[in-house]
Order: sequence, then C-alpha cells, then structure tokens
Amino acid sequence: MKVTIDGQSIDVEPGTTILQAARMIGGDLVPPAMCYYSKLKGSGGKCRCCLVEVSKGSEADPRPMPKLMASCVTGCMDGMEVNSKSSARVTEARKSVTEFLLINHPLDCPICDQAGECDLQNLSFEHGNPKSRYIEEKRTFEPENIGPNIQLHMNRCILCQRCVQVADQLTDNRVHGVLDRGDHANISTGISKAIDNEFSGNMIDVCPVGALTDKTFRFKSRVWFNKPYNAHRECTTPGCCGKTTVWMFGGEIQRVTGRKDEYHEVEEFICNSCRFDHKDVNDWVIEGPREFEKDSVINQNNYTQKLEKVEIDTEKNILLGRDVDRKKISMASIPLNTNDKK
Ligand code: SF4
Ligand code: FES
Repeated sequence: MKVTIDGQSIDVEPGTTILQAARMIGGDLVPPAMCYYSKLKGSGGKCRCCLVEVSKGSEADPRPMPKLMASCVTGCMDGMEVNSKSSARVTEARKSVTEFLLINHPLDCPICDQAGECDLQNLSFEHGNPKSRYIEEKRTFEPENIGPNIQLHMNRCILCQRCVQVADQLTDNRVHGVLDRGDHANISTGISKAIDNEFSGNMIDVCPVGALTDKTFRFKSRVWFNKPYNAHRECTTPGCCGKTTVWMFGGEIQRVTGRKDEYHEVEEFICNSCRFDHKDVNDWVIEGPREFEKDSVINQNNYTQKLEKVEIDTEKNILLGRDVDRKKISMASIPLNTNDKK
C-alpha cells in the first residue's frame, strides 16, 4: 500500500498506522505522541497530540476525512494522502491540545526530575503558548506513596495510561490503574499498595512527564549534568535484556534507565534489579557514550557532538578595545598630580 505524508510517499504493509508510516519516513513530519508507545499493546488514542489531516482517504474513496484523525490509531489505506507538519489546521490543533494538556499540569519544570527529557516540555517548546489563558485553579491531588522505588506526582500526570499498560503487560500483578472519572480521574494504587513488581521500574521510563520518577535519583542532578553511557551486564532476571543506559556524574552512576530511541521509547525493558540495585561502575560493562537527537534539551553541549572549530578572530579587536581601556584606566593622558599626595 502506498501512503503519502507531507508529499513524501512510502510503501507500507496493511495494518500500518499513519504514525508508524510517518516514523518510517522520519524527520519533521513525524507527529508528536504522548500516549502511543510502540512496545505497548493497545497504547494510543488518548492524548490527541498526533492529529493529522487526511486530505485523500484512499485510491478507492478519495474523499478527505472531515475531522483531523489521531494518526496513532488510524490505519493507512492504499493511495491515502496525509498532511502533518505542512497543514496549518494540524498546527493549530496541536497548539490547542498542548494548551489543554497544560491546563492542569503544574509549572514544576525547575524542580522536576523529568525536566530536560520531558515529552510535554518538548511539546510545549514547539507548540505551546507563552501565556496561559486559564484562570481557574489547577486540579491537585494529595501526595500518595506507591512504594520504595517510584515517586508518584499525580498533579503532573496527563493520564496517557502507558504505566497501566506496563503493569498489565510486563508484570504479573497490576496493583494500580486509573481511578475515578472526568477531572477526578487519577493514577493510584487505590489502597496505597506498594508497586514492587520486578519490572515496575519501566513505568518510570514510559511516563512521558514527571508523574512517575525514580526515587533513587530524586533531586540528585539535572539530567543535562549527567553523561549517559550505554552499558550492559549479565542479568539473570528472566525477561530482562540487561542492556541499559547509565547516567554518570564523574565516576558515579546516578541513575540507570532503559535505552531509549529517537521517539523516547525504550528499545528493551529492564528489571528493577538492574535499574535500582546496580549503581556501582564495576557492575557494568560500559560500551560508550549514548547519542541523542540533536534537538533534545539534554543534547545541548553534549560531549558526543562534533563541535565546530571556533576561530577566535576577535582577539585582535579585543586587545584593541583593551588598549583603549588600558589608556583610560592608566589615565596616561592625565598627568599625575603629585600635589594631591598628602
Ligand atoms: S503516571 Fe505517567 S505514564 Fe502513568 S498515566 Fe500518568 S502520565 Fe501516563
Ligand atoms: S499519541 Fe496518538 S492520541 Fe496520543
């Protein structure tokens, strides 16, 4: 089947969604996704960030689809034509979705551990409004302890439900989920049960915001001060790949996460033992620096980047300036009045 997105065509298998086709093409036309996660079955269709315009339904039925479609749950049809970044309607819709997501999201970025690798932060950077029109009070929740490893900040949650799918699909005993409805809907263990299943730490990796963070890394460092390295160890936990990214500060491993791809999805899930219990460099075989997409916040000034050579051709001018300064400072033109000396 042939599908065209923003003028670029690609052949895809039946059953491929528009978002998957866009990711195959890559680049700027790939819609943002806050709830879809390719490694989790049934994800997507909740946040509406990935809206696109279908200007031609298919070769058989070329009528455009009247509404913008969620690309993560809309299948491709042969001859389909889609507008993503090229559509002003889509851009407007993404702006509105971002504004909606931010209505209840607190401005915690300065103190949030997720800052620098937060999908909502990136989304707002691209589509956000610098000023909020919202004057009502934000929705807030009482803090809840959900166990020794994971910190829940429900105020930051956007209810993407990825963490629920992790618990359903990776662990053998889900003890949390979305409780209540409407604007009362929240992620909770209901009876403050501890989430301590061996694969529960992956909920931290899939959470697109700072609603679920690593208690062993809390407030230790801003992520951009850490140097991420790919590392692996012989892990004996069944189902764990043992391949991770270790986040170092000097010689200290401050955090261990799954390895994420360019869409911020983990390549393979890891167990809690790798994530929380192995922070000694000797536990790991360090493979080398982890690279990130060039526009991510944590990649600014990253040590893996090839930096352009900086020619300091202003030196002469600086010295020229200094020359003038030197004269002014030394006041050579002003004769020293020895009479001032007492
Ligand atoms: S806690 Fe995170 S992963 Fe879970 S629903 Fe909320 S935003 Fe999504
Ligand atoms: S990513 Fe498609 S609706 Fe959330």
